[in-house]
Amino acid sequence: MSEPAKICGCISSGGEGVLTGMKEKQARFYVASIAMVLDYMHNLRVVYRDLKPENVLLDAQGYIKMGDFGFAKVLEDRNRTYTFCGTPGYVAPENVLATGYNTAVDWWSLGVLIYVLLCVKQPFGDPSEDPLTIMLRIINTSFEVQYPSFLSTDAVNVITRFLQRKPSMRLGATREGLKAIKSHPWFAGFDWDLLEARKMTPAIDPKLLVRDTRRLQAFEDDKKPPKPSAKADRVFSDF
Ligand SMILES: *[C@@H]1O[C@H](CO)[C@@H](O)[C@H](O)[C@H]1NC(C)=O
Ligand SMILES: *[C@@H]1O[C@H](CO)[C@@H](O)[C@H](O)[C@H]1NC(C)=O
Repeated sequence: MSEPAKICGCISSGGEGVLTGMKEKQARFYVASIAMVLDYMHNLRVVYRDLKPENVLLDAQGYIKMGDFGFAKVLEDRNRTYTFCGTPGYVAPENVLATGYNTAVDWWSLGVLIYVLLCVKQPFGDPSEDPLTIMLRIINTSFEVQYPSFLSTDAVNVITRFLQRKPSMRLGATREGLKAIKSHPWFAGFDWDLLEARKMTPAIDPKLLVRDTRRLQAFEDDKKPPKPSAKADRVFSDF
């Protein structure tokens, strides 16, 4: 059985070894689809906790399918959970700090995912770095994410809104929920109804994807479920 197509295969190579991100218009199709899936899960009080390009599969038509629900959890009465889990580059600060978190962590990860799709690198560091270093940047309020100049102002803004450290103010996690995402300027003119009806032409035809493993490597994180080390426990207990 061949591996299913994943959105990380939708990246074009701008020549020998040069990776370029998706066009913003293409990324919008996937990000809108993921936002609708997360909204659906959150309404069922399920927090997904492992959003990253490797877990977003494509069906034969080119629509997304979320895979790997290994970290998904149904939230209990207080709608909060404490266990640290996720993938280092994608976890929200409140997850790293284990002070209790809710479905807002998935919207943070969506911000990371948009950055990765457009920039072909992670905002808080390279997956080859020590996960601890990456997570220290995530909780460091002085750390500033660098946005390449080729990104549109609206793209930078939508990523910034998802990478909002205060969960209750994070795009998607505010009272307006999905509505606030739909009305963000980055989605101006995007036909959400057409997408929901599956009548939109998918951004990329999966049959045209080149399964170039070198391209995928830019996205590959440590496949092992990350566990906070004893060292991490000590470091984070100071926050
Ligand atoms: C938990 O979330 C659900 C769905 O968003 C909501 O209806 C419920 O009131 C929340 N419960 C608490 C205790 O906040
Ligand atoms: C937080 O980030 C700032 C800016 O990058 C850096 O100067 C500072 O050393 C970092 N603090 C910690 C505790 O890593």
